[in-house]
Amino acid sequence: MSTLEDDLSPLPIKAGAPLETHEIAGRDLLVEQLWSTLASQSVLLTAQRRMGKTSVIHLLRESATRHGFIAAGGNVEQCGTPAELVEFIVESLRSALPSHRKLVNAVNGFISRVGLEANVGVATFKLQPAAATAWKDTLVEVLDLVDHHRDEPVVLLLDELPFMLAKLRDNNSELVARDVLDTLRSIRQTKAGVRMVMSGSIGLHHVLRDLRKSGSAWAPVNDMAIIDVPPIGHEDAIRLARRLLRGVPLAATPDEPTVAEAIAYAADDVPYYVHHLTGGIRNRHRKAAVAVTTNDVEAALMAGVSDELDAWNLRYQ
Ligand SMILES: Nc1ncnc2c1ncn2[C@@H]1O[C@H](COP(=O)(O)OP(=O)(O)O)[C@@H](O)[C@H]1O
Ligand SMILES: [Mg+2]
Repeated sequence: MSTLEDDLSPLPIKAGAPLETHEIAGRDLLVEQLWSTLASQSVLLTAQRRMGKTSVIHLLRESATRHGFIAAGGNVEQCGTPAELVEFIVESLRSALPSHRKLVNAVNGFISRVGLEANVGVATFKLQPAAATAWKDTLVEVLDLVDHHRDEPVVLLLDELPFMLAKLRDNNSELVARDVLDTLRSIRQTKAGVRMVMSGSIGLHHVLRDLRKSGSAWAPVNDMAIIDVPPIGHEDAIRLARRLLRGVPLAATPDEPTVAEAIAYAADDVPYYVHHLTGGIRNRHRKAAVAVTTNDVEAALMAGVSDELDAWNLRYQ
């Protein structure tokens, strides 16, 4: 647990931008829940866009070693073919444990056997044509290699998976997209040392529905635990608001607890809206150093919900 002083140190306003792990508020319990679920099962992380899925994935990556896992994968949005997904996963495995020489050597050996040097793409190598065609075997082989060199299980983080599936469907075919999901499922079922966390902004269920042939009972993720990313706790939202207010240069907030409480309340404890509201207050105080009050919260809320440009992304949930 951090001290009160630490908790109230200023934070930069970053509505929608990637966060450093120390800037991510109120997710300790969720991350613990995820690790205890991952001890026995893979996870589908669900929530509307901007609720904080990617941030939670960052926290998982950061805390993996402490929980006895090797974390690989990441944002798979760029992968447009199954081979690229495999290249991305292999590359991320290589950088997951730089200090583990034996494993790194083994993965490097694997890459020099199946890969070709490449300067473009999702990884620093491309699979040779035969390994790319046999991408399923290639993926299983590299996961076996990790299994063999480490006792720790691997957690494959697959953020923005629905984007990748849509890309696979458009660049290749529905069949290929289905094949990737089926392969991932079969890996989950046959490899005791592999867990996955899948998440993405456009609902996975929409993509699955599109890929499912009419009438078929295809359910490639029904072995996974569904965990929702909810708003953060109210106290955490208030503390986040206080820290963001302290990061606003011009404005002083004499009654910081009250203003922060009003921000958390108006934001429904959704951290994305806490960032936006505080950003709105900052914009109102750019020119004159006037004390911030709850009136500013009200005004920032009104400005946010009526914004013609929809900077808060309210319309496309
Ligand atoms: N736990 C959090 N603490 C602080 N800000 C957060 C948190 N979660 C989300 N945010 C805010 O919401 C934005 C979107 O978060 P992100 O994790 O990218 O959401 P998602 O992946 O669900 O779309 C971040 O840029 C930040 O402004
Ligand atoms: Mg995201």
